[in-house]
Amino acid sequence: MTSSYKFSVFWFILLNLCAIGECKQRNVLLIIADDAGFETDVYNNTAIRTPHLHALARRSVVFRNAFTSVSSCSPSRSTILTGLPQHQNGMYGLHQGTHHFNSFDGVQSLPLLLGQSGVRTGIIGKKHVGPGPVYPFDFAYTEENGSVLQVGRNITRIKLLVRRFLWEQQEVDQPFFLYVAFHDPHRCGHSQPQYGAFCEKFGNGESGMGRIPDWTPQHYTPEQVKVPYFIPDTPAARADLAAQYTTISRLDQGIGLVLKELREAGFENDTLVIYSSDNGIPFPNGRTNLYWSGTAEPLLISSPEHPQRWGQESHAYVSLLDITPTVLDWFSIPYPSYSIMGADPVRLTGRSLLPALAAEPPWDTVFGSQSLHEVTMYYPMRSVHQGPYRLVHNLNFKMPFPIDQDFYISPTFQDLLNRTQAGQPTAWFKTLRGYYYRDRWELYDTRADPAETQNLASDPAHGPLLESLRTRLLKWQWATADPWVCGPDAVLEAKLTPQCRPLFNGL
Ligand SMILES: *[C@@H]1O[C@H](CO)[C@@H](O)[C@H](O)[C@H]1NC(C)=O
Ligand SMILES: *[C@@H]1O[C@H](CO)[C@@H](O)[C@H](O)[C@H]1NC(C)=O
Ligand SMILES: *[C@@H]1O[C@H](CO)[C@@H](O)[C@H](O)[C@H]1NC(C)=O
Ligand SMILES: *[C@@H]1O[C@H](CO)[C@@H](O)[C@H](O)[C@H]1NC(C)=O
Ligand SMILES: *[C@@H]1O[C@H](CO)[C@@H](O)[C@H](O)[C@H]1NC(C)=O
Repeated sequence: MTSSYKFSVFWFILLNLCAIGECKQRNVLLIIADDAGFETDVYNNTAIRTPHLHALARRSVVFRNAFTSVSSCSPSRSTILTGLPQHQNGMYGLHQGTHHFNSFDGVQSLPLLLGQSGVRTGIIGKKHVGPGPVYPFDFAYTEENGSVLQVGRNITRIKLLVRRFLWEQQEVDQPFFLYVAFHDPHRCGHSQPQYGAFCEKFGNGESGMGRIPDWTPQHYTPEQVKVPYFIPDTPAARADLAAQYTTISRLDQGIGLVLKELREAGFENDTLVIYSSDNGIPFPNGRTNLYWSGTAEPLLISSPEHPQRWGQESHAYVSLLDITPTVLDWFSIPYPSYSIMGADPVRLTGRSLLPALAAEPPWDTVFGSQSLHEVTMYYPMRSVHQGPYRLVHNLNFKMPFPIDQDFYISPTFQDLLNRTQAGQPTAWFKTLRGYYYRDRWELYDTRADPAETQNLASDPAHGPLLESLRTRLLKWQWATADPWVCGPDAVLEAKLTPQCRPLFNGL
């Protein structure tokens, strides 16, 4: 038998199986919002209407304890697309601009592995990771070759690009992975202030704002919004949140359009749909923090093959580091054996979430790792969240916590600065001083203290717990080749099997 004969027999069988419905092509649609949080009725915020997310939730498992490992855009997106924490894939900070943080050249990312296995890959919207060869996509409409407002916020444009991708899909005999990365509801007061603090006016049809034909803006008054515990309840913050809600209405309607394209192209019954966000909302104690408010993410996973848990909630602790293993599992693609730094093979510490779509799993631990946001914002932190307990290690705790540029000029933060400077009540749950200057170890019992304000790290009664969490965190840091594993009181040896060498620096 010649190999070409064998090949055609193979295709004959496969095509006939497909004809009688035995052959299931599996695809993935990954939707990531930008700085989105729990401002949705899916998570019981009754002040805002997000009917399209709600419809998706009815076909999904809704995760109550999903976390990003890093509260910063590019680093988080790199962890989503590699399954490796920022300290292991190299994307320490933001990718854009002169400083252009990049992942290491040797990283084998999700789109790379999918492409090598014959999956067609597409990205529409905000990419914000690099270098190009590490994150290759067959179809790419991103800020790298267009306007991020158009590919990330103009939901009509996004709809048409999704339509084109799915239409081209009819021409190829490949499964697909489509990554739709909305730029909504990110702030834009720093870059495009004419459109409002959250770009909530972009495309609303008013003079000078342009029109997005598919968007019906939803407006909210400052009195209507729900102010989360970590945001000052002030008129400035309420107006900021109301603008954010309007932008979320564009995101929500955009998600509805994308899902409609998927349905109309006939892919709804064989596509795994994942919705999440990259990091906490851009408010104090949110984005750039490893507290709950900076790392907890919405996560919906909709599998056409697991309808038994549709509409249910999962309380399992899951991480955005789990997305790469989940997608690889869906396509039955193994993770390769290779190394990035040193001789040890890279091992994914996340897990496939597909079992959670069939039955509630007992998972109770997630890890965090942050080094920078902007280049000037060096503030390395590592964390572990196990059950109700969160432990944060602030390696450079003697430095003031840094503030990012777009958040700095936000109405909420300007108001907080003004009130603090004038000695007025801030209506905030922390003081700026307490926010800037943190303890080296922060241990919280989030069940008794959901706002994470009572640090239990120096409480002798919690000593054994502190020790066991520190041990778990260190184990994860070694397993993920964390260059910061010895800090701040020791130096990592440059050896094949390195150890921490003490500095005697008094810490
Ligand atoms: C929403 O509220 C209901 C009723 O209190 C509760 O059972 C449910 O767990 C909440 N869901 C989420 C996602 O927070
Ligand atoms: C962006 O890149 C894609 C290739 O993936 C190309 O087809 C498209 O024309 C480019 N768009 C622009 C505006 O250059
Ligand atoms: C959004 O995209 C559509 C389709 O490309 C276009 O007609 C419309 O003018 C765009 N709107 C804005 C505000 O740029
Ligand atoms: C998807 O499945 C539903 C329910 O089984 C069915 O009504 C619908 O027609 C299917 N759609 C396609 C495109 O096969
Ligand atoms: C903060 O104070 C500055 C200087 O007085 C003022 O220009 C600005 O409008 C104030 N901002 C807010 C949000 O109150």
